[in-house]
Amino acid sequence: MKFFVDTADVAEIRDLAATGLVDGITTNPSLVAKTGRSFLDVVQEICGIVDGPVSAEVTATDHETMLAEGRKLASLAENVCVKVPLTPDGLKTCKALTDEGTKVNVTLCFSSAQALLAAKAGATYISPFVGRLDDIGTDGMELIADIVQIYANYPEYSTEVLVASVRGPHHVVQAARLGADVATLPPAVLRALFKHPLTDRGLDAFLADWAKTGQSILGVSDDKQASRTSA
Ligand code: G3P
Repeated sequence: MKFFVDTADVAEIRDLAATGLVDGITTNPSLVAKTGRSFLDVVQEICGIVDGPVSAEVTATDHETMLAEGRKLASLAENVCVKVPLTPDGLKTCKALTDEGTKVNVTLCFSSAQALLAAKAGATYISPFVGRLDDIGTDGMELIADIVQIYANYPEYSTEVLVASVRGPHHVVQAARLGADVATLPPAVLRALFKHPLTDRGLDAFLADWAKTGQSILGVSDDKQASRTSA
């Protein structure tokens, strides 16, 4: 399963990319607005940090302008994936960009019927928003299960299921159980995946016992280890 990070914050991306666990980045106009920076600069900078696909969203709503915006975004770097909304014009643009060899992420998907259309339009990724469905009292993960099943019925579709609007580790684990291809995680969710209180407690106990032995694996005093044990 691939992990993308859902942010336009370059400092966060640098930090998380260093874990070696980041396969790509997704942004949207709201995330870009939060940075207060130039969209094109941010996209270019992110593409230089991460080798995998970087989703950058068009902001026009008509096909001609979307296509022009998509082409401009795609020209910024080889790993740009153009994001288009799930509208008739968005899917027309998806088809045109896909035919030109550009990767396309179709976003704002809230139904299996929409996901079917995106696959037919040749989308590289379909982004169902599970958290926003949960917010209105619908089980977002049921939509993921449905799309994964539908796509499996048609091996000719190459569209990958990219679980978006992820709110916590539970969404990531359920997405993995269902065989979703990708989950795009807010930075806090990716960090939360590491955490378990028994891991922290177990490590503290191991380090305390190790300190009692007075040994050092590297044969030199390890100040970091000593200060962690005494904390
Ligand atoms: O980038 C699309 C999606 O992940 C947005 O999530 O939390 O704004 O519903 P959210």
